[in-house]
This record gives sequence, structure tokens and C-alpha cells, in this order.
Amino acid sequence: MSLRNIIIEPDPILREKSLPVEKVDSDLQKLLNEMLETMYAAPGIGLAAVQVGILKRLIVIDISKEKEKKNPLFLINPEITFRSEKTSIYEEGCLSIPGHFAEIERPATCHLDYVDYNGKKKAFKAEGLLATCIQHEVDHLNGVLFIDYLSKLKKDMIIKKLIKQKKELDKVIL
Ligand code: NI
Repeated sequence: MSLRNIIIEPDPILREKSLPVEKVDSDLQKLLNEMLETMYAAPGIGLAAVQVGILKRLIVIDISKEKEKKNPLFLINPEITFRSEKTSIYEEGCLSIPGHFAEIERPATCHLDYVDYNGKKKAFKAEGLLATCIQHEVDHLNGVLFIDYLSKLKKDMIIKKLIKQKKELDKVIL
């Protein structure tokens, strides 16, 4: 199994809208497995396919704690069907925005329709960290990043730093 490269902001692909998956087959499952391994290796608790350069509506999530048993969640064509009025705030980060974190307010509860790893239609209700994580990842499928919820000033500052980080990385490679 091979790890995938994670795309770092700013990159125009992160602003694209991902397309629905037509069918769940072994190629798609292989991609999901690679996304999961890439996420675990990073490490992170959520990853959308667009973050590895693939514009498909695919998400992997695992919010289990370090010493707990792994509990991966594969979400194909996820659709949020309900968002609560009650909100909660979590400090969010993103594998495509390394080293930057910000408190983001989102609906505290959401309901989700999706297709699972075996191609079966499913639904569930999420709250707490899982609800935030799902909303963050579904945003990715629509070209939205958590920094879009910040003031323009804060967002521009983070992007400027990411560009600088990228340039320094290029220097090392050259
Ligand atoms: Ni993210």
C-alpha cells in the first residue's frame, strides 16, 4: 500500500468541487485504504480525496484516541441532510494547512446520508467532534477550507505563511 502526497494550500485544486462517485469497486476501495493510511501517517483525523489530488466525493475519518482501537469511517458521496441551530466551537487544523489552527464555530449536530465502503446506502446522526470533523471534510468536497471562516486579515496571514513555508521546502529539494 502506498502513501499519497497531501496537497498544501494555496493550490487551485483545493478550491474545486469534487464529483460524485458512480460505483464502488475494488479500485475505489484501494484508494480509500490509501487515503486512510495517508491520514494515519500524517497524522490526522480526517482526509478528503481532493487533498490527495482526486476530485471524488470521498472522505476518511477516524476520531478514535491514540490508545483506543482504530475506528475508521469511510464516507462515499456524503450529504449533510440536517444541521442543528445549536453550535459548538472546536480548534480546527487541516492536513492541507500544516501548523495553523483556529477556533471555528459550526452546527453542533448534523445528520448524514452516505454510501459505505461496500456500496451500501447509510445514514447517521453525528455530534461533538465527529459532527465538526464531518462538516470540515464535506467542506473540502465543495472547495471550502476552515480558514475561509476567518477574517480576511487572519486568512491572508496564514496563506502568506504557507507560501513562505512552501518556498523553503522547495529550496531544500533543489
Ligand atoms: Ni482539512
